[in-house]
Amino acid sequence: MTRKLRAAGIWGTGLAVPERVLTNADLEKMVDTSDEWITTRTGIKERRIAADDEATSDLAAAAARHALTEAGVRAEELDLIIVATVTPDVSFPATACLVQMKLGAANAATFDLSAGCSGFVYALDMAVRAVESGAYNRVLAVGADILSRITDWTDRSTCVLFGDGAGSAVVGPVSEGRGLLATDLGAEGASGHLLTLPAGGSRKPASAETIQSREHFILMQGNEVFKFAVRIMGETTQTSLKKCGMGPDDIDVFVPHQANIRIIEAARKRLGLPEEKVFINVQSYGNTSAASIPIALDEAFRSGKIKDDDIVALVGFGAGLTWASAILRWGR
Ligand code: UT7
Repeated sequence: MTRKLRAAGIWGTGLAVPERVLTNADLEKMVDTSDEWITTRTGIKERRIAADDEATSDLAAAAARHALTEAGVRAEELDLIIVATVTPDVSFPATACLVQMKLGAANAATFDLSAGCSGFVYALDMAVRAVESGAYNRVLAVGADILSRITDWTDRSTCVLFGDGAGSAVVGPVSEGRGLLATDLGAEGASGHLLTLPAGGSRKPASAETIQSREHFILMQGNEVFKFAVRIMGETTQTSLKKCGMGPDDIDVFVPHQANIRIIEAARKRLGLPEEKVFINVQSYGNTSAASIPIALDEAFRSGKIKDDDIVALVGFGAGLTWASAILRWGR
């Protein structure tokens, strides 16, 4: 049982994506693929690609500025910044430190976390627990990734899937009954090899050989991850719902990780949700990793789909393999 001093939830959200758009037609000129294959197998039509001088902390800071404005919080008021990413600017310092500098958030502690595409929900959970305990008051949770830098642009089985972006949320105390109601975070470390970046770490440092064998790019067994995703999305959502005495019918807006329209559709059917409750923007951005859920959440809110007191469910899966779901009652 956790000790909870007060309720905590999202005060404001924000997103940032690069300007450059890469369409399926562009990809047809790069690898042996087709708009028809990509659309029917994934639902993706286009994705954003970072400029050469753009790094993860740039997108993260831009998304954070939007969230701070929405929340009415000044950067100096932040006391903790958590950045979920698998593509930090550099191994160290943490991207959260770079975001702190860019925002001028001099009073914030900082750390990064690595949970793949589940990362933002992990960060949100940590942010909310920090505020609920009374230890922190204004926490910034960011999901940001530039997967284009670790994508093998000669591998058609992965290069059509990913895009770049960042999404963020400012977390603070909210009125009792609102905010984060329950989460379910988990991992299946034994399946980590299904989605990995093999070289460049302490196990296999960068060398001429690792470059030659293309081990600095994403290596994924797509169909195995697909099966895991379809199973876990429904299971973890049900677990979170049970924790707060709810069922799928109580969900007003379902915001899933935007990896593949077929995975989203399978999860929707397993939970018995009507189409209009599911927010989908995978067609515009592809899979933006840790940024996917907060980008979708921000778009869902700004388009008027999420209103005060709505029950919002966030659910993701990713490298680890990890999963994470969260149930929120929207509003302060
Ligand atoms: O955030 C977590 C990150 N990971 C994921 O979300 C990945 C989850 N997995 C998926 O979304 C799907 O497994 C994929 C979209 C990656 C692949 O879809 P699939 O239906 O599992 O296709 P497949 O890998 O079984 O491949 C089917 C065929 C193969 O050809 P053969 O062997 O049947 O002749 C592939 O070579 O499609 C071929 N193929 C392509 N064809 C055209 C694979 N990629 C492409 C491509 N264009 N881009």
